[in-house]
Amino acid sequence: MEQRVRELQQLLQNASYAYYVLDNPIMEDSVYDQLYRELQELETQYPHSITPDSPTQRVGEKPATQFFSVRHNIPLYSLENAFNIDELKAWEQRWRRTAPGFVLKALEGDKGDKGDKGDKGDKRDKGDKEAFLPQLPTPDSRLPTPLYVCELKIDGSAIALTYENGLLVRGVTRGDGVMGEDITQNVKTIRSIPLRLQVENPPTRVEVRGEAFLPLDVFEQINQERSQKGEPPFANPRNAAAGTLRQLDPRIVDKRRLDFFAYTLHVAGRDDASVYQTQWEALELLQQMGFKVNPHRKLCPTVQEVAEYYRYWDTERLNLLYMTDGVVVKINSLPLQEQLGFTQKFPRWAIALKYAAEEAPTRVEEIAVNVGRTGALTPMAIMRPVQLAGTTVSRATLHNSDRVAQLDIRVGDTAIVRKAGEIIPEVVRVLPELRPAGTQPFQMPTHCPTCSQPVIKEGAVTRCVNASCPSILKGALEHWVSRDALDINGMGEKLVHQLVDRGVVHSVADLYNLNAEKLMQLERMGQKSVEKLVQAIAASKTKPWSRVLYGLGIRHVGSVNAQVLTQKFFTVEQLATAKTTDIESVYGIGAEIAHSVYDWFHIPANQSLIARLQAAGLQLAGEAVEESRQNDASLPLAGKTLVITGTLPTLKRDEAKELIQKAGGKVTDSVSQKTDFLVVGEEAGSKLEKAQKLGISILSEAQLTEMANS
Ligand code: IVH
Repeated sequence: MEQRVRELQQLLQNASYAYYVLDNPIMEDSVYDQLYRELQELETQYPHSITPDSPTQRVGEKPATQFFSVRHNIPLYSLENAFNIDELKAWEQRWRRTAPGFVLKALEGDKGDKGDKGDKGDKRDKGDKEAFLPQLPTPDSRLPTPLYVCELKIDGSAIALTYENGLLVRGVTRGDGVMGEDITQNVKTIRSIPLRLQVENPPTRVEVRGEAFLPLDVFEQINQERSQKGEPPFANPRNAAAGTLRQLDPRIVDKRRLDFFAYTLHVAGRDDASVYQTQWEALELLQQMGFKVNPHRKLCPTVQEVAEYYRYWDTERLNLLYMTDGVVVKINSLPLQEQLGFTQKFPRWAIALKYAAEEAPTRVEEIAVNVGRTGALTPMAIMRPVQLAGTTVSRATLHNSDRVAQLDIRVGDTAIVRKAGEIIPEVVRVLPELRPAGTQPFQMPTHCPTCSQPVIKEGAVTRCVNASCPSILKGALEHWVSRDALDINGMGEKLVHQLVDRGVVHSVADLYNLNAEKLMQLERMGQKSVEKLVQAIAASKTKPWSRVLYGLGIRHVGSVNAQVLTQKFFTVEQLATAKTTDIESVYGIGAEIAHSVYDWFHIPANQSLIARLQAAGLQLAGEAVEESRQNDASLPLAGKTLVITGTLPTLKRDEAKELIQKAGGKVTDSVSQKTDFLVVGEEAGSKLEKAQKLGISILSEAQLTEMANS
């Protein structure tokens, strides 16, 4: 029986390899399914016969509850960028200057020196006997010239795979390059990643790096499904791949059909120098081990050839089934790579030669104005849909009236829109030569497009200041129900809009007058969802005072400031009657915040809102959190002030804050000279810039966790 199991495993593995890696199927789907079922049945009957690399072990049954941070065996560096051939040439100049003289001499000498080649040949022969490879790659590639290997830069998510004695034991996301997340369960679902290396006598440990990516057709299909379900689409295939890899349920990952190209090989536990000497050979080895390696790689003896390759792929890439955003140029010789080493962030021996962010012309059909929660009016260009960087773009932000004036963008114009990475599309410029006759410059409205009340101008920002403006109200409600505020699950954007548009809700306090009967009358509300919603609204009354304060949406009062304030002002009365100087005396609260809070509590409409919330039973007072920890000098973050920005990979804001506070640190909302560390997540904005200007140390979530637990 054991033998039949092994036989089936091998048959299925060969078929899967032929299908997913070689793209050359050798078995009918129906035959595959039948053999797979037979294997599954046998393995169920004889569980001891299951091996970790059996084809049945790719998709785990149990969703993970979280991912664990792990340290990479070898850090994953990122790449320096060049945007044109001149910058590429400058890079070549730089690395040549850094290269120790003897290396360069050896390079030049090697070109015609057969003796040296023979030397290497000897070393190889010796290595060959114990090598884990049946065949060595083409001998020409062993020469230091060609100098460069060009590879396509795949726009996906880097992952690191560890194989021990040939078996895949770990898959980790890039993370910050030093620490990543263990996503082994998810990595196993990628069919083009071998569960066992296809070599006899594998080395003790092999580290393979490469790019996990979503083919464009899968990407589009996922986005279609998402929009049908009312979920926001992924901005680009890279985000989609990264998001998929961090799915907790491997069965969902399995459905998403991720793919993988391998590009880096590290071998431990064996003198790898005897096996391969160049990146080109490493790629061939990876291929022999069973990985998919991008077929469009090329050896280029000089920068001129690199330039040709780059230009060729600039147009050809549009015919590929996956996204590439540039070319990666690597020095072929591994000994030379080693000599050159790394800067703080990048290898000196490689560079990403990127294509310009994708731009496309399209017609401006309308300039709409959006009113946000703070009342700020944001002009948006509504355009004829265009394909950009793998997504359909039909609107772009114009930021504010200054930007509109600068662009002189008008309805009817042909505008160039750009989408760089995950950034929201923006208008780069308009083409005045294509402007139809009779257009008028765009004027910001003098009255709010929603409530028709006059607007005011504060610098570049145009603002509606009507507290009962429906757009502001919608924004305020969305903020109130959001997760970090009162966390009213089930009250999404659509529902909020209905409530406001039908005149059911005129203020946040009106949410507490809602009942099942009123909610049942709304569109798409069934018995079950109404019950849940009623419960969530009731539960929000138990949320602490700090969350309520945050939920009020007072300008400059983020969730951290709300906590800081409620630790000093235990009741809403204390805060509402405080002088600006009292508020400012709180650690971490500056004059701007103090004035904003003071002003808010002195508006009569806000005072009656507070009274109504109090009557509804919300928590507008609460015990202060015990502060003694912050005085314990033995704690790892004692005396340190930290600011958090962006979305952290695993921790929610509250959790990160708690972690810092438990470690004796303080968390504030804004970056200043007093800040010791800025903890940075994805999509960090102005805080990061400010911290960099002030020279404040930046921490990733992983580094924070490590510090806090040290
Ligand atoms: S080599 C130390 N090769 O680009 C060198 N990277 O912008 C490590 N990437 O983090 C990278 N295709 O995620 C390399 N053929 C390729 C690549 C590639 C895509 C990604 C990778 C890296 C990023 C840097």
